[in-house]
Amino acid sequence: MSDVHVFPTFDALSRSASQHIAAHIQTVLRENDTYALALAGGSTPERTYELLASGFPSIAWERVHIFWGDERFVPSSSARSNERMARRTLLSKIDVPFANVHPIPTDAGSPSAAADRYNDHLRTVFADRDHTFDLTILGIGDDGHTASLFPGTRPDATDADKTGLPDGRLVRAVEAPAIYDIRDRITCTYRALNASTEVVFLASGADKQQAVARARAGDPDVPAAHISPRHRLTWFLDPGAAGEEA
Ligand code: 6PG
Repeated sequence: MSDVHVFPTFDALSRSASQHIAAHIQTVLRENDTYALALAGGSTPERTYELLASGFPSIAWERVHIFWGDERFVPSSSARSNERMARRTLLSKIDVPFANVHPIPTDAGSPSAAADRYNDHLRTVFADRDHTFDLTILGIGDDGHTASLFPGTRPDATDADKTGLPDGRLVRAVEAPAIYDIRDRITCTYRALNASTEVVFLASGADKQQAVARARAGDPDVPAAHISPRHRLTWFLDPGAAGEEA
């Protein structure tokens, strides 16, 4: 199931996305002890994270576990780090325990070592359940990439079956196309992302319009088109990304 919401402004998009995520956290925590939230990097989610941090004091953050869908292979102190962005906009403002924050270990010596460690960690953390993240936040590039799954990356035939935690890797090291200044990346695989209960895509700006349209049309050359979570996928767009700009 997928829903699309278009908002008149970026702030309205971010506000609604934060409300959607907060509501899902509250719903899941009514029936479960913990909640697994996977964060996106880039710039689009920043405002959503700030609103999530400030607008929902009743969230039991001590029961929320924070993960990342992907990371650039840079130190967590780098201005380009997705972890650093999340700590600045969200984690530094909520009472989430240290043990609940699961960054991708970019101090692991190499991208493949970092990917192996995170892959093993996710397998351990999710071993006793039939899905990975309760909700994954994703962005989309103008080339249709999402997380660090770039054009040319297709789901393996042995993709997740819907009955349980998928076989195969949940995390791997990738090299971004040459146009990207940080090419060494670690990313959750389609298996890991599609084993989420819910996915929320955030996209703003006319430069994303074509990628969003192709993804929603199921264009197999667009990585974001292969995102299909177990329950619900929701797009939060502004008029530019939705192709509705006057
Ligand atoms: C990253 C993200 C990446 C991002 C898109 C959109 O590490 O950069 O995970 O997938 O979501 O590139 O980025 P913007 O939100 O900055 O447009």
